[in-house]
Amino acid sequence: MSVIFVRQGVRLDSEICHPGLNLLGHAQMIELGLGSECGGHGKCGRDRVLLEASELDQVSAPTAIERAHLKPEELKAGYRLACQCFPNAEGLSLSVKVLAPPADSAIPRP
Ligand code: FES
Repeated sequence: MSVIFVRQGVRLDSEICHPGLNLLGHAQMIELGLGSECGGHGKCGRDRVLLEASELDQVSAPTAIERAHLKPEELKAGYRLACQCFPNAEGLSLSVKVLAPPADSAIPRP
């Protein structure tokens, strides 16, 4: 059981699922970039992923940071920020769709 990322139809298996590691960390373990610009500090909002609705009870509840970056209907549909979302237990099987980062960015560019 592990976190499996799906990017453009390709499945990338992190080969672990650990509650102490957020989804961004699982992706980083297999060198999969999720568009993070803030290093996982919840500032950029660019590491959006989509979970199956049936998996939402297997991950941590949305944080205030996620509620600031995502609309309520997006959260309900399964959109999350990978740096804020943790599996609830070890050994779960999660399928996480990798999305293109939003065009805008919360971090000002020079
Ligand atoms: S990595 Fe920037 S908000 Fe998650």
